[in-house]
Amino acid sequence: DDLDKYFGIKGSKILIRIDINSPIKPETGEILDDSRIRAHAETLRELVERGAAVVAMSHQGRPGESDFVSLNKHAELLEKHTGMTIHFIDDVIGPAAREEIKKLRTGEILLLDNTRLVSEEIIEATPEKHAESIFVSRLAPLFNYYINDAFATAHRSQPSIVGFPMKLPSAAGRVMERELVALSKLYNPEERPRVFVLGGGKVHDTLRILEYLHSNRAVDRILATGLVAELFLVAKGVDIGEANMKVLESKGLLALLPRARRLLLKGLPIETPVDFKTLVNDNVEVEAIGSSIKGVIKDIGPQTIKMYVEIMKEARLIVLRGPAGVIEDPRFQDGSKELLRAAVESSAYVIVGGGHLNSIAAKLGLSERPNLHISTGGGALLLFLAGEDLPGLVALAKSAQKFFDKFL
Ligand code: 3PG
Repeated sequence: DDLDKYFGIKGSKILIRIDINSPIKPETGEILDDSRIRAHAETLRELVERGAAVVAMSHQGRPGESDFVSLNKHAELLEKHTGMTIHFIDDVIGPAAREEIKKLRTGEILLLDNTRLVSEEIIEATPEKHAESIFVSRLAPLFNYYINDAFATAHRSQPSIVGFPMKLPSAAGRVMERELVALSKLYNPEERPRVFVLGGGKVHDTLRILEYLHSNRAVDRILATGLVAELFLVAKGVDIGEANMKVLESKGLLALLPRARRLLLKGLPIETPVDFKTLVNDNVEVEAIGSSIKGVIKDIGPQTIKMYVEIMKEARLIVLRGPAGVIEDPRFQDGSKELLRAAVESSAYVIVGGGHLNSIAAKLGLSERPNLHISTGGGALLLFLAGEDLPGLVALAKSAQKFFDKFL
């Protein structure tokens, strides 16, 4: 909106960074989840409707990994979700790409190939340094404006994210805007009590988030599930059984015990499960905390769900990150499903992060609820929640200072 208001979008050529990095089936190259593609389609359509010629770019995977592929299949899905023709070129900054960009006319959309085909794109450097990269120097002169719609890559200080804002008047796209509006509720003192439901496998990241939230008094209650819950139970001196201790050990998580204990001593308001669904010789059992757990922990148990649901009823803001159990197995989806359902049905505003919970929300038909924000961010969301500056946002702020200051 600001670009349109102060500079005018009609008749312009816009370079937009999106993040359509998606899970890929290695054998066939099939895109397994198109939710990011669907989200960005809306921004692209709006820019075209406002009279721009639009060139989109994104990364996919990392060089050397099986999901590091061309974006030709992404282009087909973008076409499906925008309902518009998407021109695709298997080049990023070379003469073929530049020729296509020059030829592009108002109302047309061009998708460039995987940005990480350009070696500079995997270098982390400052916006000022990347502004002088070959990547940026070759493309920036062909455009009027740059838009960053890639919240999910905002934690990377790479040329396609931080270089262009130094050279072109820039703005956040609709996906980025939606993320920031939703996440800004975390800074609204009226949105309390704030309840964080934290599970999943990324225990190191979760601990960083907890340390930040606690030292800034930014959270009122924490409901632990998954491996995070197991770690805190051990820190409290609870016997979770030999099999589960081995799992924590094999993942290198026992080294985190001193940090977990320190947080408990400092009064971290964290709740841990009172029962679990476990697997004992291939039988599903419910085991309560108290005596040593016999089976392998796979999900939180019914009493824990009840207790957590009660606590969520008081919340004004609920953040859910990571599944409560091993949801790949349908026998262990209840914890994640029930917590998500209760959150969305409460009067709180709900922010959900992580692919697993997103797919559960879709399965339960909850995705479109007005009090629910499903974040596109993985690593970016984690860092945001841990209070770190995201380079992509810092670059947009610098760009605003440089190009918009005269208007404000
Ligand atoms: C993500 O999926 O988290 C983003 O697309 C960033 O990908 P990266 O971790 O490979 O930079």
